[in-house]
Amino acid sequence: MNAIDLLITAALPPFLYEPLKADYRCHDYAASRDRIALLAEVGGRIRGLVQSGGTVTPTVLLDDLPKLEIISVFGVGYDGVPTDYCRDHGIRVTHTPDVLTDDVADVAVALILMTGRGFIRANRFVHAGKWVHGNPELSTKLSGRSVGIVGLGRIGKAIAHRVEAMGMQVAYTGRKPQEVAYRYVANLASLAKEVDFLVVACPGGAATHHLVDAGVLAALGAKGTLINIARGSIVDESALVRALADGTIKGAGLDVFADEPRVAEALLALDNVVLLPHVGSATKETRQAMGDLCKGNLDAWFTRGAVLTLVPELR
Ligand code: 8YV
Repeated sequence: MNAIDLLITAALPPFLYEPLKADYRCHDYAASRDRIALLAEVGGRIRGLVQSGGTVTPTVLLDDLPKLEIISVFGVGYDGVPTDYCRDHGIRVTHTPDVLTDDVADVAVALILMTGRGFIRANRFVHAGKWVHGNPELSTKLSGRSVGIVGLGRIGKAIAHRVEAMGMQVAYTGRKPQEVAYRYVANLASLAKEVDFLVVACPGGAATHHLVDAGVLAALGAKGTLINIARGSIVDESALVRALADGTIKGAGLDVFADEPRVAEALLALDNVVLLPHVGSATKETRQAMGDLCKGNLDAWFTRGAVLTLVPELR
């Protein structure tokens, strides 16, 4: 163990926490019952902070960590990190891109299949012993249908590749057109209007808060299904519940929610929505790779003064 103090602000899996504890003095802020006392005791010594993708780090906490050099996020999303504050205070912020891209894209495709082909309903049908009494209702063919991707980053591109292989048509929106074979639609509502599946794959945070609102859902319309594998904050969840309940849109497949792990009762009660408990990156292989990269960033910083995967805003 070296003499470097880390503040741990999220519940970490053992395959990350144990190696961290072997090499650093870890202070478990997430599990602490007296955080004020913990900060009073160790805040002045903390040089690194470890959090997960969904953890919100308030600037008042960072104010109590005057020696903080690096925040290492166990996740690709860092919408909970105040990056402007970090830039101003010389704090590096790292995350875990690339290693989870395939898994998250797989979940988007799974949600398209589960909603479009009605596989959840079909599975319930067999479990309920209904098959012997007749066949399930027919679903919709996916090949030939269109997918609109909101945010064509690494994950958005991996989703595009997958649905293209399924014979689906891809268009996308984002801040600017890219040199890709997919069609760019500058306006989100216009994209929603023309596609069968609108897939949210952009980063969370203030810039995308409630980007998918009642107007976008109205444009998506009764032929359309919303898929969200990014962040719950990007979708106005109350508007989504209304749109699902009154048939404004056809359905939704959601891996992320506004107030995880709490899922709105109104969503639970609906039949035209498939709900997953934020499992985008939740495979053993990927979480291990994320854990290795999360610790790798700390090790690189504290041994060589460099990091592996700095977030774009701080480059
Ligand atoms: C994880 C995520 O659930 O990477 C992200 O941004 O949202 C997820 O992959 C989370 O970060 C793991 O703690």
